[in-house]
Amino acid sequence: MLSVRNIQCGYGDIVAVHDLSFDAAAGQVFALIGANGAGKTTTIMALAGHLPPNQGSITVAGCDISAGPALERLQHGIALVPEGRRVFPDLSVEDNLTVGGHTLERARLASNRDNVYQIFPRLAERRSQLAGSLSGGEQQMLAIARAMMADPKILLVDELSLGLMPRMVDECYQVVDTLKKQGLLIVLVEQSTQRALDVADQVAVLESGHLAWQGSGDEARTDSSVVSAYLGT
Ligand SMILES: Nc1ncnc2c1ncn2[C@@H]1O[C@H](COP(=O)(O)OP(=O)(O)OP(=O)(O)O)[C@@H](O)[C@H]1O
Ligand SMILES: [Mg+2]
Repeated sequence: MLSVRNIQCGYGDIVAVHDLSFDAAAGQVFALIGANGAGKTTTIMALAGHLPPNQGSITVAGCDISAGPALERLQHGIALVPEGRRVFPDLSVEDNLTVGGHTLERARLASNRDNVYQIFPRLAERRSQLAGSLSGGEQQMLAIARAMMADPKILLVDELSLGLMPRMVDECYQVVDTLKKQGLLIVLVEQSTQRALDVADQVAVLESGHLAWQGSGDEARTDSSVVSAYLGT
Protein backbone atom coordinates (compact mmCIF):
# COMPACT_ATOMS: atom_id res chain seq x y z
CA MET A 1 0.00 0.00 0.00
CA LEU A 2 2.80 2.42 0.92
CA SER A 3 5.99 2.29 -1.05
CA VAL A 4 8.97 4.51 -0.31
CA ARG A 5 11.81 4.41 -2.80
CA ASN A 6 15.24 5.93 -2.23
CA ILE A 7 14.00 9.12 -0.64
CA GLN A 8 16.39 11.81 0.52
CA CYS A 9 15.07 14.58 2.76
CA GLY A 10 16.56 17.44 4.62
CA TYR A 11 16.59 21.07 5.55
CA GLY A 12 18.46 23.39 3.20
CA ASP A 13 21.92 21.91 2.76
CA ILE A 14 21.47 19.44 5.61
CA VAL A 15 20.53 15.93 4.51
CA ALA A 16 18.65 14.30 7.40
CA VAL A 17 17.47 11.11 5.64
CA HIS A 18 19.55 9.33 3.01
CA ASP A 19 18.35 6.85 0.43
CA LEU A 20 15.51 5.36 2.47
CA SER A 21 13.31 2.64 0.97
CA PHE A 22 10.61 0.47 2.48
CA ASP A 23 7.22 -1.04 1.76
CA ALA A 24 4.32 -1.41 4.15
CA ALA A 25 0.94 -3.05 3.75
CA ALA A 26 -2.60 -2.45 5.03
CA GLY A 27 -3.34 -3.95 8.44
CA GLN A 28 0.29 -3.64 9.53
CA VAL A 29 2.20 -1.75 12.15
CA PHE A 30 5.40 -0.44 10.60
CA ALA A 31 7.75 0.67 13.39
CA LEU A 32 10.36 3.26 12.62
CA ILE A 33 12.88 3.37 15.43
CA GLY A 34 16.22 5.00 16.09
CA ALA A 35 18.11 7.26 18.48
CA ASN A 36 17.46 11.00 18.89
CA GLY A 37 18.18 12.84 15.66
CA ALA A 38 18.16 9.65 13.58
CA GLY A 39 15.64 11.09 11.12
CA LYS A 40 12.35 9.56 12.28
CA THR A 41 10.35 12.79 12.40
CA THR A 42 11.90 13.92 9.13
CA THR A 43 10.68 10.70 7.49
CA ILE A 44 7.21 11.11 8.96
CA MET A 45 7.08 14.73 7.73
CA ALA A 46 8.03 13.58 4.24
CA LEU A 47 5.27 10.98 4.29
CA ALA A 48 2.80 13.59 5.57
CA GLY A 49 3.72 15.99 2.77
CA HIS A 50 5.18 18.67 5.02
CA LEU A 51 8.71 18.12 3.73
CA PRO A 52 8.82 16.98 0.11
CA PRO A 53 11.79 14.65 -0.55
CA ASN A 54 14.66 16.04 -2.67
CA GLN A 55 15.01 12.68 -4.34
CA GLY A 56 13.12 9.42 -4.60
CA SER A 57 9.42 8.67 -4.57
CA ILE A 58 6.54 7.94 -2.23
CA THR A 59 3.63 6.00 -3.70
CA VAL A 60 0.33 5.03 -2.14
CA ALA A 61 -1.63 2.26 -3.82
CA GLY A 62 0.46 2.83 -6.95
CA CYS A 63 -0.10 6.59 -7.05
CA ASP A 64 2.99 8.81 -6.82
CA ILE A 65 2.37 11.44 -4.15
CA SER A 66 5.98 12.57 -3.58
CA ALA A 67 5.54 16.17 -4.64
CA GLY A 68 1.95 16.86 -3.60
CA PRO A 69 1.08 19.15 -0.69
CA ALA A 70 0.04 17.93 2.76
CA LEU A 71 -3.63 18.61 2.08
CA GLU A 72 -3.55 16.22 -0.86
CA ARG A 73 -2.17 13.50 1.43
CA LEU A 74 -5.54 13.35 3.17
CA GLN A 75 -7.21 12.58 -0.15
CA HIS A 76 -4.76 9.71 -0.50
CA GLY A 77 -5.77 8.48 2.94
CA ILE A 78 -2.73 9.63 4.92
CA ALA A 79 -3.29 11.30 8.29
CA LEU A 80 -0.74 12.52 10.81
CA VAL A 81 -0.62 12.40 14.59
CA PRO A 82 2.21 14.88 15.14
CA GLU A 83 4.92 14.74 17.78
CA GLY A 84 3.67 16.58 20.86
CA ARG A 85 -0.02 15.97 19.97
CA ARG A 86 -0.80 19.58 19.00
CA VAL A 87 -4.48 19.44 19.91
CA PHE A 88 -6.25 22.81 19.86
CA PRO A 89 -6.24 23.60 23.60
CA ASP A 90 -8.98 26.24 23.52
CA LEU A 91 -11.42 24.08 21.57
CA SER A 92 -13.58 21.36 23.08
CA VAL A 93 -12.89 17.71 22.38
CA GLU A 94 -15.81 17.68 19.97
CA ASP A 95 -14.63 20.78 18.10
CA ASN A 96 -11.15 19.28 17.76
CA LEU A 97 -12.79 16.29 16.10
CA THR A 98 -14.80 18.56 13.81
CA VAL A 99 -11.56 20.20 12.66
CA GLY A 100 -10.15 16.74 11.90
CA GLY A 101 -13.18 16.02 9.73
CA HIS A 102 -13.43 19.44 8.11
CA THR A 103 -13.32 17.99 4.59
CA LEU A 104 -16.31 15.73 5.25
CA GLU A 105 -20.00 16.24 4.56
CA ARG A 106 -22.18 16.79 7.60
CA ALA A 107 -23.67 13.27 7.72
CA ARG A 108 -20.28 11.66 7.33
CA LEU A 109 -18.84 13.94 9.99
CA ALA A 110 -21.47 12.77 12.47
CA SER A 111 -21.01 9.08 11.69
CA ASN A 112 -17.22 9.32 11.88
CA ARG A 113 -17.54 11.11 15.19
CA ASP A 114 -19.73 8.28 16.50
CA ASN A 115 -17.09 5.81 15.34
CA VAL A 116 -14.22 7.53 17.09
CA TYR A 117 -16.27 7.94 20.25
CA GLN A 118 -16.77 4.18 20.18
CA ILE A 119 -13.04 3.58 19.90
CA PHE A 120 -12.34 6.26 22.52
CA PRO A 121 -15.13 6.15 25.12
CA ARG A 122 -12.98 8.33 27.37
CA LEU A 123 -13.31 11.13 24.81
CA ALA A 124 -17.05 10.62 24.49
CA GLU A 125 -17.38 11.26 28.22
CA ARG A 126 -15.37 14.46 27.83
CA ARG A 127 -16.78 15.78 24.59
CA SER A 128 -17.49 19.28 25.95
CA GLN A 129 -14.24 19.58 27.89
CA LEU A 130 -11.56 21.94 26.57
CA ALA A 131 -8.76 19.92 25.00
CA GLY A 132 -6.13 21.89 26.92
CA SER A 133 -7.52 20.57 30.21
CA LEU A 134 -7.23 16.90 29.21
CA SER A 135 -4.44 14.77 30.65
CA GLY A 136 -1.46 14.03 28.42
CA GLY A 137 -2.77 10.58 27.63
CA GLU A 138 -6.23 11.90 26.82
CA GLN A 139 -4.68 14.52 24.54
CA GLN A 140 -2.81 11.79 22.71
CA MET A 141 -6.10 9.88 22.31
CA LEU A 142 -7.68 13.06 20.97
CA ALA A 143 -4.81 13.59 18.52
CA ILE A 144 -5.32 10.06 17.21
CA ALA A 145 -9.11 10.46 17.16
CA ARG A 146 -8.81 13.77 15.29
CA ALA A 147 -6.63 12.10 12.65
CA MET A 148 -9.12 9.22 12.42
CA MET A 149 -11.94 11.66 11.59
CA ALA A 150 -10.59 11.96 8.04
CA ASP A 151 -11.07 8.21 7.38
CA PRO A 152 -7.39 7.54 6.77
CA LYS A 153 -5.97 4.31 5.41
CA ILE A 154 -2.51 5.20 6.67
CA LEU A 155 -1.96 6.71 10.09
CA LEU A 156 1.42 8.31 10.80
CA VAL A 157 2.10 8.51 14.54
CA ASP A 158 5.16 10.38 15.76
CA GLU A 159 6.03 9.41 19.35
CA LEU A 160 2.93 7.55 20.44
CA SER A 161 3.82 7.10 24.08
CA LEU A 162 6.32 9.86 24.87
CA GLY A 163 5.69 11.30 28.35
CA LEU A 164 2.66 9.13 29.13
CA MET A 165 2.16 7.11 32.28
CA PRO A 166 2.23 3.31 31.82
CA ARG A 167 -1.54 2.83 32.00
CA MET A 168 -2.11 5.40 29.26
CA VAL A 169 0.64 3.83 27.18
CA ASP A 170 -1.24 0.53 27.42
CA GLU A 171 -4.45 2.22 26.33
CA CYS A 172 -2.75 3.86 23.37
CA TYR A 173 -1.35 0.52 22.27
CA GLN A 174 -4.77 -1.08 22.61
CA VAL A 175 -6.05 1.58 20.23
CA VAL A 176 -3.24 0.82 17.78
CA ASP A 177 -4.26 -2.83 17.89
CA THR A 178 -7.92 -1.96 17.24
CA LEU A 179 -7.04 0.27 14.28
CA LYS A 180 -4.72 -2.33 12.82
CA LYS A 181 -7.51 -4.92 13.00
CA GLN A 182 -9.71 -2.45 11.13
CA GLY A 183 -7.16 -2.67 8.30
CA LEU A 184 -5.23 0.54 8.79
CA LEU A 185 -1.53 0.79 8.13
CA ILE A 186 0.08 2.43 11.13
CA VAL A 187 3.54 3.93 10.72
CA LEU A 188 4.73 4.19 14.29
CA VAL A 189 7.66 6.22 15.55
CA GLU A 190 8.67 5.45 19.11
CA GLN A 191 11.34 6.29 21.64
CA SER A 192 10.30 3.36 23.78
CA THR A 193 11.59 0.80 21.35
CA GLN A 194 10.42 -2.26 23.23
CA ARG A 195 6.74 -1.33 23.06
CA ALA A 196 6.99 -0.63 19.35
CA LEU A 197 8.78 -3.93 18.73
CA ASP A 198 6.08 -5.82 20.64
CA VAL A 199 3.40 -4.78 18.15
CA ALA A 200 5.40 -4.29 14.96
CA ASP A 201 4.85 -6.36 11.83
CA GLN A 202 7.77 -4.62 10.13
CA VAL A 203 10.67 -2.74 11.67
CA ALA A 204 13.10 -0.20 10.23
CA VAL A 205 15.98 1.11 12.30
CA LEU A 206 17.39 4.50 11.34
CA GLU A 207 20.90 5.52 12.31
CA SER A 208 22.09 9.04 11.49
CA GLY A 209 19.61 9.26 8.64
CA HIS A 210 20.54 5.92 7.12
CA LEU A 211 18.54 2.72 7.16
CA ALA A 212 20.64 0.54 9.46
CA TRP A 213 18.40 -2.52 9.67
CA GLN A 214 15.07 -3.62 8.27
CA GLY A 215 13.14 -6.80 8.88
CA SER A 216 9.95 -8.35 10.15
CA GLY A 217 8.72 -7.82 13.69
CA ASP A 218 9.32 -11.53 14.32
CA GLU A 219 12.96 -11.24 13.24
CA ALA A 220 13.43 -8.17 15.43
CA ARG A 221 11.82 -9.92 18.41
CA THR A 222 13.71 -13.22 18.04
CA ASP A 223 17.04 -11.57 17.56
CA SER A 224 16.61 -8.36 19.47
CA SER A 225 20.41 -7.99 19.72
CA VAL A 226 20.35 -6.96 16.05
CA VAL A 227 18.14 -4.02 16.82
CA SER A 228 19.65 -3.09 20.19
CA ALA A 229 23.11 -3.02 18.63
CA TYR A 230 21.99 -0.10 16.46
CA LEU A 231 20.32 1.68 19.32
CA GLY A 232 23.18 1.23 21.76
CA THR A 233 20.84 -0.33 24.34
N1 LIG B 1 13.90 22.24 10.95
C1 LIG B 1 15.12 21.72 10.91
N2 LIG B 1 16.18 22.41 10.40
C2 LIG B 1 17.42 21.88 10.35
N3 LIG B 1 17.72 20.64 10.76
C3 LIG B 1 16.73 19.90 11.27
C4 LIG B 1 15.37 20.39 11.37
N4 LIG B 1 14.61 19.43 11.93
C5 LIG B 1 15.44 18.39 12.15
N5 LIG B 1 16.70 18.65 11.76
C6 LIG B 1 17.87 17.76 11.86
O1 LIG B 1 17.59 16.58 11.13
C7 LIG B 1 18.10 15.43 11.82
C8 LIG B 1 16.98 14.44 12.06
O2 LIG B 1 16.03 15.01 12.96
P1 LIG B 1 14.64 14.31 13.28
O3 LIG B 1 13.82 15.30 14.01
O4 LIG B 1 14.08 13.72 12.06
O5 LIG B 1 15.12 13.14 14.26
P2 LIG B 1 14.25 12.15 15.15
O6 LIG B 1 14.73 10.77 14.82
O7 LIG B 1 12.82 12.42 15.01
O8 LIG B 1 14.76 12.52 16.62
P3 LIG B 1 13.98 12.55 18.04
O9 LIG B 1 14.00 11.13 18.51
O10 LIG B 1 14.82 13.42 18.90
O11 LIG B 1 12.60 13.07 17.80
C9 LIG B 1 18.72 15.96 13.11
O12 LIG B 1 20.11 16.05 12.90
C10 LIG B 1 18.11 17.33 13.27
O13 LIG B 1 18.98 18.22 13.92
MG1 LIG C 1 11.32 13.07 16.32
